[in-house]
Amino acid sequence: MDKAEFGKYFTNIFQDGFIMLSIGLGHDLGLFKVMCEAKEPISSKEVAKKLDFKERYTREWLSTMVAASIIKQDRDSNLYKVPEQYKEIIMTNMGFAPALFSVGMRAKAVKETFKKDGPYGINFNGEEGADFFQWFDGYRTLICDETVDKKILPLLDQQGAVSKLKSGIKVLDLGCGTGNYVTAFAQRFPKSTFIGLDYSEVSLKRCNESKQEKALTNVTFTKCDAHNLPDEWAESFDYVFVYDVLHDLPNPHKALGQIYKVLKKDGFFSLIEIGFHSNPVDNADDKGAALYYGVSTFICLQSSMSEEPHIGYGACWGKENIEKALLDANFKINAKSSLIDIDKEAFFFCTK
Ligand SMILES: C[S@@+](CC[C@H](N)C(=O)[O-])C[C@H]1O[C@@H](n2cnc3c(N)ncnc32)[C@H](O)[C@@H]1O
Repeated sequence: MDKAEFGKYFTNIFQDGFIMLSIGLGHDLGLFKVMCEAKEPISSKEVAKKLDFKERYTREWLSTMVAASIIKQDRDSNLYKVPEQYKEIIMTNMGFAPALFSVGMRAKAVKETFKKDGPYGINFNGEEGADFFQWFDGYRTLICDETVDKKILPLLDQQGAVSKLKSGIKVLDLGCGTGNYVTAFAQRFPKSTFIGLDYSEVSLKRCNESKQEKALTNVTFTKCDAHNLPDEWAESFDYVFVYDVLHDLPNPHKALGQIYKVLKKDGFFSLIEIGFHSNPVDNADDKGAALYYGVSTFICLQSSMSEEPHIGYGACWGKENIEKALLDANFKINAKSSLIDIDKEAFFFCTK
């Protein structure tokens, strides 16, 4: 890029940052829901009335969205509408935007972790963790069903795993977070039994609420450290599911050893991780990777660095090194693939 091109590129990033903050407000305040549910063009007064908001702030938000080409405003009537073809995209993707509120809250603590004599990292258990799970649950809730039905299950089906889930097997979701995936699986496969495991009490509280809301009887949740699974679980699971967890752990290699331990001899293990390259140079000029390095600096790397041995791979640990770690842990990789979500995610299907 020459100087002029770089100037434009650089300042555009600031524009996108503030637009993302406003998308986060639209998600959290229900503004997008009202706009996407409206059958006809709607005035700022009507939007504000539906939500019991001040019209002036509502109008400022609508103007932001109009300027950002997300909502259209009619010049004569001043009414606003979301183009029909935008609605599904907005409703399924907006949940990521409140991440900015959550990482903003962490900024002071994150700056301290950079310092040589500062803390090592921030785990998912403190005040920051509680805030993380609030937005993460909202984000996962919006994308979970589609990710399971259109992305994960077709890949599992190619390996013959869906028929096993239908017939009834024992499944562990390691690092289940707010339980979105394990409860989605439990709903779809009532003959199988599921254990959702996490070390965060905040996330497990949400998991149990979700279990009640969905009236599920085939899933239980347990508090446990992924690095130290109970010995009595040895060779007891048919399937271990791990989504977006390994790179958060202070020692992913130890956790892989634990997964190997609890998996039955003929069991299978699916791993979904962020799927960029392991060598950062290979991620150059990829804004999707930049997004995840950024998320990692605030969340994932913080968690991985928070405890001994501080391995700290970060979210962009990378598919090449993940593959090597799986092989080093004695897994056979039967299939690898990509899930396209916010950006690339690597999918590995493994057996012993
Ligand atoms: C990015 S979240 C992913 C949650 C879930 N798998 C999903 O995809 O929705 C990472 C999860 O790993 C959990 N976690 C981090 N370190 C852990 C550890 N040592 N033992 C168990 N869980 C851990 C966190 O509490 C968090 O719920």
